[in-house]
Amino acid sequence: MRQVDRGRGQSFVGRRCAAGLGTVALVLASIVAAVGGAGAGSGVLPAADPARGMSARDAARFRAGEAIFHAEWQPAPNVSEGVDGLGPLYNAVSCAACHGGPAAANPADRFGGRVLRLSRPDGTPDPVYGLQLQDRAVPGHLAEGRIAINDEPSVVRLVDGREVQLGRPRPAIADPAYGSPAADLALSLRVPPPLDGLGLVAAIEAADIRALADPDDKDGDGISGRVGEAVDPTTGKAVLARFGWKASVATLAQQTAEALHLDMGISSLRLAQHGGDCTPAQRDCLAAPSGASAAAGGAEISDTEIGLLVAYLEGLEPPSNLVLITHPPEAAGERAFAASGCHGCHWTGFTTSQTTMKPHRARQGVRLFSDLLLHDMGEGLADNRPEGSASGSEWRTAPLWGLSRRLARMANGTLPGLLHDGRARTIEEAILWHGGEAARARDAYAALSQADRDNLLAFLAGL
Ligand code: HEC
Ligand code: HEC
Repeated sequence: MRQVDRGRGQSFVGRRCAAGLGTVALVLASIVAAVGGAGAGSGVLPAADPARGMSARDAARFRAGEAIFHAEWQPAPNVSEGVDGLGPLYNAVSCAACHGGPAAANPADRFGGRVLRLSRPDGTPDPVYGLQLQDRAVPGHLAEGRIAINDEPSVVRLVDGREVQLGRPRPAIADPAYGSPAADLALSLRVPPPLDGLGLVAAIEAADIRALADPDDKDGDGISGRVGEAVDPTTGKAVLARFGWKASVATLAQQTAEALHLDMGISSLRLAQHGGDCTPAQRDCLAAPSGASAAAGGAEISDTEIGLLVAYLEGLEPPSNLVLITHPPEAAGERAFAASGCHGCHWTGFTTSQTTMKPHRARQGVRLFSDLLLHDMGEGLADNRPEGSASGSEWRTAPLWGLSRRLARMANGTLPGLLHDGRARTIEEAILWHGGEAARARDAYAALSQADRDNLLAFLAGL
């Protein structure tokens, strides 16, 4: 891709004043304290910050959506109709169980909300296990199995001779309850991405994302970048997709309906099967009672409630209130980031649309650190499982804003690590896994002096 946003002249980083890597731990500790306030089981919802400038109506919708996001769904039939219809096969009882941060995380879940996506070599769902392994089931049904992970170790040597140990998680299905999975089943392990600031991401014009694509690498910088696409279920036409690790989902409403269907087994008007991801081979699952109700339009959750969940996602504040960097190490780190070619994909130049429906979202800079495009990241990151328009080695550029929050979640054990499968225990490991279109940037990083590397890592850890 194209140019670096040097022209902006100013340099920003998260709010803090002290120096160097030594302070990162301190900053992280304060973030953990801030988000860890409302304990799991205390009955108190960890209230998220709605975006400033929301109308009173939007703020009320945000709070209602937040309640649904935290609601724990129950198996059907259930006396409380509002949360009726979990499973029969599922991964978690609420959105918050996977996405909610420390307060909501299930301490028994050592995989931190990770899911295992499945498909046949031709991209279709597995005829028995479906599109995703459901590792839980309501009473009377068998969970499909467990995610087992084997770490494949390797070592990378930096230009100055320092060695870094890496581990690549190779997932498998342990204790399969519905027969041995096909040997050629493609498996892809995914961690939940952060949800902060998604309203801004949604408000970026599709044309601005398309403008960054360079599929044939016409500018010869080694970075191409393709637009992710999805089929719009109402028109049947291909539209730009910006959500998900493989940019395969076009809208937050669709992403929400898919999460309800795949992760929780809850039907909606968009995805109507009440048993979620259960297949014709799983007859008991299909025959289980449904939680559908007339109030929800004949599904287990209504379109209105999906709209409230979307209002919640759209209202989440962007990760950090960015202030001017005055501190030299981070300013130097940002320069090293640009000089290494990281901006080629981790793009900071988006502005939201002028015509968005939400006035408080219009014409805002989005320092997302992502071009929202697909890039071939090489064999090391490949899951060899095409999805949407992405190939088995393509991934959407991961946004780097809010990286400090992700590091805090890794420190408290609710996020296994960075990258799509959570394999990277540090920012440096994540960088060293870059290959394919990003090989040049990775090598530029590996050739930096120790001081420049430290500055670059301090800059990113403060985002
Ligand atoms: C079992 C854990 C789990 C549950 C439950 C879950 N999610 Fe997710 N979520 C994930 C994972 C994993 C991904 C990444 C999927 C991918 O792209 O491969 C994801 C992706 C997303 C994204 C896309 C973010 C982005 O940057 O593109 C959104 C939005 C989202 N989830 C919202 C929700 C909502 C709303 C709910 C509840 C209705 C929910 N999720 C329930 C695990 C979960
Ligand atoms: C060719 C595009 C490209 C370039 C250039 C690039 N990246 Fe990335 N980066 C990605 C993609 C795509 C991912 C997600 C890969 C995955 O999860 O498998 C990613 C992920 C990351 C992550 C992990 C974020 C998270 O939350 O999981 C970090 C950190 C990162 N990149 C830093 C850098 C740095 C530093 C540089 C420059 C040395 C760089 N990247 C250059 C495309 C790129």
